[in-house]
Amino acid sequence: MKLFLDSANLEEIREVASWGVLDGVTTNPSLCSKENATFEDNIRAICAVCAGPVSAECVSLRADEIVVEGRGLARIAPNVAVKIPICLEGLKATKTLHAEGVPVNMTLIFSASQALLAAKAGARFVSPFIGRLDDASEDGMALIEEIVQIFENYRFETEVIVASVRHPRHVVEAALVGADIATVPYGVMEKLVKHPLTDIGIERFLADWRKVRK
Ligand code: G3P
Repeated sequence: MKLFLDSANLEEIREVASWGVLDGVTTNPSLCSKENATFEDNIRAICAVCAGPVSAECVSLRADEIVVEGRGLARIAPNVAVKIPICLEGLKATKTLHAEGVPVNMTLIFSASQALLAAKAGARFVSPFIGRLDDASEDGMALIEEIVQIFENYRFETEVIVASVRHPRHVVEAALVGADIATVPYGVMEKLVKHPLTDIGIERFLADWRKVRK
Protein backbone atom coordinates (compact mmCIF):
# COMPACT_ATOMS: atom_id res chain seq x y z
CA MET A 1 0.00 0.00 0.00
CA LYS A 2 1.27 3.46 -0.88
CA LEU A 3 1.18 6.38 1.55
CA PHE A 4 0.79 9.92 0.23
CA LEU A 5 0.99 13.04 2.37
CA ASP A 6 -2.08 15.29 2.11
CA SER A 7 -0.26 18.58 2.52
CA ALA A 8 1.21 21.53 0.64
CA ASN A 9 3.68 22.30 3.44
CA LEU A 10 7.30 21.74 2.38
CA GLU A 11 8.60 21.16 5.91
CA GLU A 12 6.03 18.43 6.55
CA ILE A 13 6.78 16.84 3.17
CA ARG A 14 10.57 16.88 3.79
CA GLU A 15 10.05 15.40 7.26
CA VAL A 16 7.88 12.48 6.08
CA ALA A 17 10.23 11.87 3.14
CA SER A 18 13.05 11.49 5.70
CA TRP A 19 11.11 8.65 7.38
CA GLY A 20 11.37 6.63 4.16
CA VAL A 21 7.59 6.17 3.82
CA LEU A 22 6.57 8.90 1.35
CA ASP A 23 5.18 7.65 -1.97
CA GLY A 24 3.48 10.84 -3.15
CA VAL A 25 1.78 14.09 -2.18
CA THR A 26 -1.72 15.45 -2.69
CA THR A 27 -2.56 19.13 -2.51
CA ASN A 28 -5.77 21.07 -3.03
CA PRO A 29 -6.54 24.81 -3.22
CA SER A 30 -7.38 24.95 0.51
CA LEU A 31 -4.05 23.34 1.51
CA CYS A 32 -2.09 25.57 -0.93
CA SER A 33 -3.78 28.70 0.43
CA LYS A 34 -2.13 28.07 3.84
CA GLU A 35 1.40 28.38 2.37
CA ASN A 36 3.41 31.55 1.72
CA ALA A 37 4.80 30.61 -1.69
CA THR A 38 2.87 31.13 -4.92
CA PHE A 39 0.98 28.03 -6.07
CA GLU A 40 3.28 27.19 -8.99
CA ASP A 41 6.53 27.74 -7.05
CA ASN A 42 5.21 25.61 -4.21
CA ILE A 43 4.22 22.71 -6.50
CA ARG A 44 7.66 22.90 -8.20
CA ALA A 45 9.42 22.76 -4.82
CA ILE A 46 7.26 19.84 -3.63
CA CYS A 47 8.03 17.93 -6.85
CA ALA A 48 11.75 18.39 -6.18
CA VAL A 49 11.40 16.82 -2.71
CA CYS A 50 9.01 13.99 -3.60
CA ALA A 51 9.80 11.78 -6.59
CA GLY A 52 6.31 10.19 -6.55
CA PRO A 53 3.11 11.70 -7.96
CA VAL A 54 2.28 15.20 -6.70
CA SER A 55 -1.35 16.21 -7.25
CA ALA A 56 -2.00 19.81 -8.24
CA GLU A 57 -5.62 20.86 -8.64
CA CYS A 58 -7.32 22.66 -11.53
CA VAL A 59 -9.85 25.39 -10.72
CA SER A 60 -11.36 25.86 -14.20
CA LEU A 61 -14.89 24.61 -14.76
CA ARG A 62 -15.14 24.23 -18.58
CA ALA A 63 -13.53 21.22 -20.27
CA ASP A 64 -11.44 23.24 -22.74
CA GLU A 65 -10.20 25.49 -19.92
CA ILE A 66 -9.46 22.54 -17.62
CA VAL A 67 -7.38 20.97 -20.42
CA VAL A 68 -5.32 24.15 -20.90
CA GLU A 69 -4.86 24.54 -17.13
CA GLY A 70 -3.99 20.84 -16.75
CA ARG A 71 -1.36 21.02 -19.51
CA GLY A 72 0.18 23.99 -17.74
CA LEU A 73 0.29 22.15 -14.40
CA ALA A 74 1.81 19.07 -16.06
CA ARG A 75 4.61 21.28 -17.45
CA ILE A 76 5.69 22.27 -13.91
CA ALA A 77 7.38 18.89 -13.31
CA PRO A 78 7.23 15.37 -14.79
CA ASN A 79 5.69 13.94 -11.59
CA VAL A 80 2.66 16.27 -11.45
CA ALA A 81 -0.72 14.53 -11.45
CA VAL A 82 -3.48 16.90 -12.50
CA LYS A 83 -6.33 16.91 -10.00
CA ILE A 84 -9.79 17.52 -11.48
CA PRO A 85 -13.11 17.53 -9.60
CA ILE A 86 -15.61 14.94 -10.92
CA CYS A 87 -18.27 16.52 -13.17
CA LEU A 88 -19.19 16.16 -16.85
CA GLU A 89 -16.73 18.87 -17.94
CA GLY A 90 -14.06 17.22 -15.78
CA LEU A 91 -14.67 13.86 -17.46
CA LYS A 92 -14.27 15.39 -20.93
CA ALA A 93 -11.02 17.05 -19.86
CA THR A 94 -9.79 13.80 -18.31
CA LYS A 95 -10.36 11.94 -21.59
CA THR A 96 -8.24 14.52 -23.47
CA LEU A 97 -5.46 14.77 -20.89
CA HIS A 98 -5.29 10.97 -20.55
CA ALA A 99 -4.91 10.66 -24.35
CA GLU A 100 -1.98 13.11 -24.10
CA GLY A 101 -0.33 10.99 -21.39
CA VAL A 102 -1.09 13.40 -18.51
CA PRO A 103 -2.03 11.51 -15.32
CA VAL A 104 -5.32 12.72 -13.80
CA ASN A 105 -6.43 12.40 -10.19
CA MET A 106 -10.23 12.72 -10.24
CA THR A 107 -11.23 14.23 -6.92
CA LEU A 108 -14.28 15.01 -4.77
CA ILE A 109 -15.57 11.47 -5.37
CA PHE A 110 -18.54 10.62 -3.13
CA SER A 111 -20.13 7.67 -4.98
CA ALA A 112 -19.10 4.45 -6.74
CA SER A 113 -20.81 5.59 -9.94
CA GLN A 114 -18.60 8.69 -10.02
CA ALA A 115 -15.51 6.50 -9.55
CA LEU A 116 -16.61 4.15 -12.35
CA LEU A 117 -17.05 7.02 -14.81
CA ALA A 118 -13.71 8.55 -13.80
CA ALA A 119 -11.93 5.23 -14.45
CA LYS A 120 -13.66 4.81 -17.81
CA ALA A 121 -12.64 8.33 -18.86
CA GLY A 122 -9.00 7.42 -18.14
CA ALA A 123 -8.29 8.82 -14.68
CA ARG A 124 -5.01 7.46 -13.24
CA PHE A 125 -6.33 7.95 -9.69
CA VAL A 126 -9.70 8.51 -8.01
CA SER A 127 -9.95 10.27 -4.65
CA PRO A 128 -13.03 9.33 -2.59
CA PHE A 129 -13.35 11.61 0.48
CA ILE A 130 -14.21 9.24 3.30
CA GLY A 131 -13.94 11.61 6.28
CA ARG A 132 -16.46 14.02 4.77
CA LEU A 133 -18.86 11.09 4.20
CA ASP A 134 -18.42 9.94 7.81
CA ASP A 135 -19.06 13.55 8.90
CA ALA A 136 -22.40 13.36 7.04
CA SER A 137 -23.37 10.16 8.91
CA GLU A 138 -22.51 7.96 5.92
CA ASP A 139 -20.00 5.09 5.73
CA GLY A 140 -16.89 6.31 3.92
CA MET A 141 -15.06 2.98 4.11
CA ALA A 142 -18.05 1.13 2.58
CA LEU A 143 -17.59 3.35 -0.48
CA ILE A 144 -13.91 2.38 -0.69
CA GLU A 145 -14.86 -1.31 -0.58
CA GLU A 146 -17.33 -0.83 -3.43
CA ILE A 147 -14.84 1.03 -5.62
CA VAL A 148 -12.01 -1.46 -4.95
CA GLN A 149 -14.38 -4.33 -5.87
CA ILE A 150 -15.58 -2.64 -9.08
CA PHE A 151 -12.03 -1.87 -10.22
CA GLU A 152 -11.02 -5.47 -9.49
CA ASN A 153 -14.04 -6.90 -11.35
CA TYR A 154 -13.10 -5.09 -14.55
CA ARG A 155 -9.33 -4.84 -14.05
CA PHE A 156 -9.27 -1.04 -14.22
CA GLU A 157 -5.74 0.27 -13.74
CA THR A 158 -7.06 3.37 -11.96
CA GLU A 159 -5.72 3.51 -8.39
CA VAL A 160 -7.91 4.32 -5.39
CA ILE A 161 -6.59 7.13 -3.19
CA VAL A 162 -8.41 7.10 0.15
CA ALA A 163 -8.72 10.83 0.93
CA SER A 164 -10.14 12.99 3.71
CA VAL A 165 -8.45 10.70 6.23
CA ARG A 166 -9.13 11.68 9.84
CA HIS A 167 -7.39 9.08 12.04
CA PRO A 168 -5.07 6.01 11.96
CA ARG A 169 -7.98 3.50 11.80
CA HIS A 170 -8.96 5.00 8.44
CA VAL A 171 -5.49 4.06 7.14
CA VAL A 172 -5.58 0.54 8.60
CA GLU A 173 -9.09 -0.12 7.26
CA ALA A 174 -8.12 1.26 3.86
CA ALA A 175 -5.24 -1.26 3.80
CA LEU A 176 -7.55 -4.10 4.89
CA VAL A 177 -10.05 -3.46 2.08
CA GLY A 178 -7.24 -3.29 -0.49
CA ALA A 179 -7.11 0.41 -1.37
CA ASP A 180 -3.99 1.25 -3.39
CA ILE A 181 -3.14 4.47 -1.57
CA ALA A 182 -4.12 6.51 1.49
CA THR A 183 -3.37 10.22 1.47
CA VAL A 184 -2.78 11.18 5.06
CA PRO A 185 -2.55 14.57 6.81
CA TYR A 186 0.71 15.17 8.73
CA GLY A 187 -0.93 14.92 12.17
CA VAL A 188 -2.39 11.51 11.36
CA MET A 189 0.90 10.37 9.79
CA GLU A 190 2.63 11.07 13.15
CA LYS A 191 -0.05 9.10 15.01
CA LEU A 192 0.52 6.06 12.77
CA VAL A 193 3.90 5.44 14.39
CA LYS A 194 2.91 6.07 18.00
CA HIS A 195 1.71 3.67 20.69
CA PRO A 196 1.77 4.41 24.45
CA LEU A 197 3.01 0.86 25.21
CA THR A 198 5.99 1.45 22.91
CA ASP A 199 6.89 4.62 24.86
CA ILE A 200 6.52 2.79 28.20
CA GLY A 201 8.58 -0.13 26.83
CA ILE A 202 11.44 2.14 25.72
CA GLU A 203 11.46 3.92 29.10
CA ARG A 204 11.55 0.59 30.96
CA PHE A 205 14.36 -0.85 28.79
CA LEU A 206 16.44 2.31 29.28
CA ALA A 207 15.89 2.26 33.07
CA ASP A 208 16.94 -1.42 33.23
CA TRP A 209 19.92 -0.77 30.96
CA ARG A 210 21.15 1.96 33.33
CA LYS A 211 21.06 -0.62 36.18
CA VAL A 212 23.25 -3.18 34.37
CA ARG A 213 25.73 -0.54 33.21
CA LYS A 214 26.54 0.49 36.82
O1 G3P B 1 -6.91 16.31 -0.39
C1 G3P B 1 -8.26 16.21 -0.27
C2 G3P B 1 -8.83 15.65 1.03
O2 G3P B 1 -7.96 14.77 1.63
C3 G3P B 1 -9.43 16.70 1.91
O3 G3P B 1 -9.64 16.28 3.22
O4 G3P B 1 -9.99 16.85 5.59
O5 G3P B 1 -10.54 18.56 3.83
O6 G3P B 1 -11.96 16.54 4.12
P1 G3P B 1 -10.59 17.10 4.24
